[in-house]
Amino acid sequence: MKELLKKLTQACGPSGSEQCIREIIKSELPNYETRTDALGNLIVEKKGPKSKIMFSAHMDEIGIIVTHIDKEGFLRFDFIGGVNPFYLPGERVQFQNGTLGVIGVEKLDKIADLQKSNLYIDIGVESKEEAMKLVKIGDTACFTSPFIDLGNRLVSKAMDNRVACALLIKLMQELPETDNHIVAVFTVQEEVGLRGAKTAAYGIDPDYGLAIDVTATGDTPKAMTMDVSLGKGAAIKVKDNSLLAHPYVKDKLVELAEANNIPYQMEVLEFGGTDAGAIHLNREGVPSGVISVPTRYVHSRSEMVDVRDLDAALALAKAFAKADLK
Ligand code: CO
Ligand code: ZN
Repeated sequence: MKELLKKLTQACGPSGSEQCIREIIKSELPNYETRTDALGNLIVEKKGPKSKIMFSAHMDEIGIIVTHIDKEGFLRFDFIGGVNPFYLPGERVQFQNGTLGVIGVEKLDKIADLQKSNLYIDIGVESKEEAMKLVKIGDTACFTSPFIDLGNRLVSKAMDNRVACALLIKLMQELPETDNHIVAVFTVQEEVGLRGAKTAAYGIDPDYGLAIDVTATGDTPKAMTMDVSLGKGAAIKVKDNSLLAHPYVKDKLVELAEANNIPYQMEVLEFGGTDAGAIHLNREGVPSGVISVPTRYVHSRSEMVDVRDLDAALALAKAFAKADLK
């Protein structure tokens, strides 16, 4: 699991440029015939006669897109997804073609004045002409940061949401034949508005939706009030800004966790969204829920997860895949 997670998190796949991630996932599932839909979602099916369950894990990560190159060769940029400008000074970026750069900040009187427009990327060149050989307007990049193993806790950029990609790969690798029809969807463009999940759900027309994604925690010094902690188990979502989890799905997840002695905690998130927000509004409505992986420092380059929560999340996802649903 750690090796797979390292490979997935270290690859670069900002929203709209998920091809590298898709190739890694395909290579991990050689026994399946996979297909890629028009928007780039990767779809992997295990057919069965009963309920059709769409599992989703988004492949994309937050990043930046180049908006302007000045005559000295400095790049200005816009954010892709929910990037926090306060995390950015000194940050390193990597473009799709491998070009690297560092983020600098203009002289500011107060750090509180920091915003996107004060930041620039330095790719080590001295002119616009030189810069244009490496980077074009509209090119996208992800942040970089090495994977570190702290024992129970693992840290990297893009744990959101490669951690769920790894779990869904494991689910498909290890799941025996089931009565349910399992459709695993590795989605595109979640970070910019749950876009891949929306069209994938329409095409698949599932009976149930289950997203796997990261969630925040309330267990660090002076954190916001939130009853989710690292290491205390899989989080079963009650709500976020995109979804009120369907009571049947949420209660079924709790029942399965209890019955299988899987550690779990209830998640009430006061912001954010997941693919389930798009899936549950598909066609005439799809009962949907979310298994979340508690994660500290979400949307920083040092997102931290706990391996015990990953084990719990995988066990719960397997139990749901095999469950007898009404
Ligand atoms: Co995210
Ligand atoms: Zn996510």
